[in-house]
Amino acid sequence: MFDFRPEPGQPKAETLRQLCDAADALTAGEPDSIANMANVAALLWEFLPGLNWAGFYRMVDGELVLGPFVGRPACIRIPLGKGVCGTAASTGASQLVADVHAFPGHIACDSASQSELVVPVLRDGAVIAVIDLDSPEKARFDAEDQSGIEQLAALLSERI
Ligand code: SME
Repeated sequence: MFDFRPEPGQPKAETLRQLCDAADALTAGEPDSIANMANVAALLWEFLPGLNWAGFYRMVDGELVLGPFVGRPACIRIPLGKGVCGTAASTGASQLVADVHAFPGHIACDSASQSELVVPVLRDGAVIAVIDLDSPEKARFDAEDQSGIEQLAALLSERI
């Protein structure tokens, strides 16, 4: 049995570090990318409070296609450059959005979403997927969250 959980009340940096350690332990030596994305989506949900969606979109034939996630059913295909995920995928840069309603072209999969963090996963310089986190709280994510999820993305580069 796996029992990865954050200690309540600890600093966020420590929780993000434990999240990466748990993801490392769960995906090490496992070649199946769907299994690895599914477990990491579950870890994101378990470790990060205040989310209403956590998961992956994968780059497939030049567009983003829904991958493993936790949350409400979501848009299946997102063109590059569209919405927060499509912008992260087309630029290769993380998107930290305090208010999704102020983001041009934001795609509302769940009307509860207020803020969003999307981090691309790169392999050999190309975007192979994005990690998408949504929150029903405005400005839920900060630079520390972005840095932690970017470390997670780097870890997953060769594992998804
Ligand atoms: N809001 C995202 C779409 C994905 S859902 O939030 C799961 C966007 O604008 O890219």
